[in-house]
Formats: sequence, structure tokens, C-alpha cells
Amino acid sequence: MNTNEYLIRRSKIEDLDGIFDLYKTVSKTIGGLARAENEITMDYIRDFTEKSLERGVQFVMVDELNDNRIVAEIHCYKLAPVVFGHILGELTISVDSLYQGKGLGRKLFQALLDFVSAHRNDILRVELIARESNSRAISLYESLGFVKEGRMLHRIRSNAEFFEADIPMAWFNPNFNK
Ligand SMILES: CC(C)(COP(=O)(O)OP(=O)(O)OC[C@H]1O[C@@H](n2cnc3c(N)ncnc32)[C@H](O)[C@@H]1OP(=O)(O)O)[C@@H](O)C(=O)NCCC(=O)NCCS
Repeated sequence: MNTNEYLIRRSKIEDLDGIFDLYKTVSKTIGGLARAENEITMDYIRDFTEKSLERGVQFVMVDELNDNRIVAEIHCYKLAPVVFGHILGELTISVDSLYQGKGLGRKLFQALLDFVSAHRNDILRVELIARESNSRAISLYESLGFVKEGRMLHRIRSNAEFFEADIPMAWFNPNFNK
């Protein structure tokens, strides 16, 4: 697959339905997104999209040869307290299951970091948290320049008996302007 066939663009509020469909599909596979399929609601999608449009960054990747379907999405936004005004957090990236492992996630994530470097010198940190077993995602984030900042023991409850650690990670904007 040629990743040049896919358009990366800033999101808009009209993308809600496409992002909802994407998250419903991706959440069917256990071990990636924190939310299970039944926890993916339009309220959840609207909440993070509105926050990202108002005080964050959100990109979608569109398959122009397939009815402009949204095949990947990434977002993060500022938390409300002023003391966190230099941080983009609550980051989630999601690539349609049929399109995973083809370089799209890396390309989309790099686009977000390039955008922050070029246009958001108010941002020092981009933060995310990934479950420890999602080693594929964690190695992707490390290769993009994220560093592990600890290990939150037993943070994820996978089922009644099994807990796993969550790994907080951060990327620092080289163009941050105090
Ligand atoms: C994690 C995710 C965003 C990665 O996106 P992707 O498009 O599948 O990944 P890419 O094809 O861009 O590959 C990026 C890296 O992942 C790793 N990777 C990709 N496919 C892999 C596979 N089948 N097995 C192992 N590692 C793999 C490689 O390290 C690759 O690095 P490379 O570019 O040096 O080869 C995507 O798989 C996804 O949405 N997963 C479900 C939801 C999820 O886990 N979100 C993150 C929550 S923290």
C-alpha cells in the first residue's frame, strides 16, 4: 500500500460520524484503545473532538479512493487548569484495523508532532499513556521521540483477576518559546 494515497488534514466538526465509525471498529480489538466497544459513544467522540478543536490538535487521515472514509485519527488537547497550559494531553491515536501495520499511524503521528513543532511554540510537552502490553504502540512512540516517564502499576484492569501497568510517556517540543 502506498501511504501517499491517503490525505492527512485537520479535522472538522463534520467528521464526527466518520471518527465514531473508526473508533467503533478499532475498539473491537482488545488491547489497544482503553475503551471497549460499548463505551464508544457519540458523546465521547464529540467531547474529545470539541476539546481538540477548541484547545488542542486533531488530524484525520482519509482514504480518498474509498469515499473519503476516515481511516485514522489522532487528537490531544490542553487540560483546563492554567498551570497545564504548556501541555497537550489526553492523546489517542487510532488506525482502522484493516489499515494497521502499513505505516499510516507513524505518518499521522509525525504530522501532529511536525505541526506542534512548527505552529505551537506555546506547547512544551505532548503526553500520552499506553498500556504496557501494547508494545507495538510503545516502540512506535519511542521511535517518534517519546520517553517513558514511569510505570503506573496495576492501573489497567483487564478483567476480574488481571491488572496491568500503564506507561506514561512524553515528547518535548524543541521549539517551545517561554
Ligand atoms: C498503534 C497504532 C496507532 C499504530 O499504527 P499503525 O499504522 O498500525 O503502525 P505503523 O504501520 O505506522 O507502524 C509503526 C511501528 O509499529 C510497529 N509495527 C507495525 N506493525 C507491526 C506489527 N504487525 N507487529 C509488530 N510491530 C508492528 C513497528 O515498530 C512500526 O515501526 P516501523 O515504522 O519502524 O516499521 C495502530 O496499530 C492502532 O490504532 N492500534 C489500535 C489502537 C491503539 O492501540 N491505539 C494506541 C493506544 S495507546
